[in-house]
Amino acid sequence: MIMDIVKYGSNVLREKSKKIERIDDEIKNLLNNMVETMQNAQGVGLAAPQVGVNIRAFVLDIGDGNIRKVVNPEFLEFSEKLVEQEEGCLSIPGVYKKVKRPESLKIKYLNENGEEVVEEADGLLARAFQHEYDHLEGVLFVDKISPVAKRLVSNKLQKLKRETLKNSK
Ligand code: NI
Repeated sequence: MIMDIVKYGSNVLREKSKKIERIDDEIKNLLNNMVETMQNAQGVGLAAPQVGVNIRAFVLDIGDGNIRKVVNPEFLEFSEKLVEQEEGCLSIPGVYKKVKRPESLKIKYLNENGEEVVEEADGLLARAFQHEYDHLEGVLFVDKISPVAKRLVSNKLQKLKRETLKNSK
């Protein structure tokens, strides 16, 4: 089932999400729907708050043949080296800006079967893990862009927020 993607300006994107205590059929179903929603929107990742649910889960498809369903992620390590790359977000359509983040990392999470997975990631995968994890903390990539970039997108963000608030009435 394709779900509605929550857009910039909605409070659900700004809340800290709750840990998942048990991966039951409801959670598995939600993860499947999130994968379908992400693929339909041609996104690389989608976090639960983006479909209106404040729980610690996200899905990723960076095109490496491994569609990841990530529950209760925790970072174990970050590289000191930072890299800057352009990012976008399905909740902030039309906005693409560079964000500086650690180049590589180690992450631990549960897959949809409740098995612990530890992965080392760099490049797009490392970036996607960090971007989606931020969603679980109520953080958006536009919070992390340079002040100059922020000024450049502020009108667009204000417009998105107005539309989101109008649609939620
Ligand atoms: Ni996003």
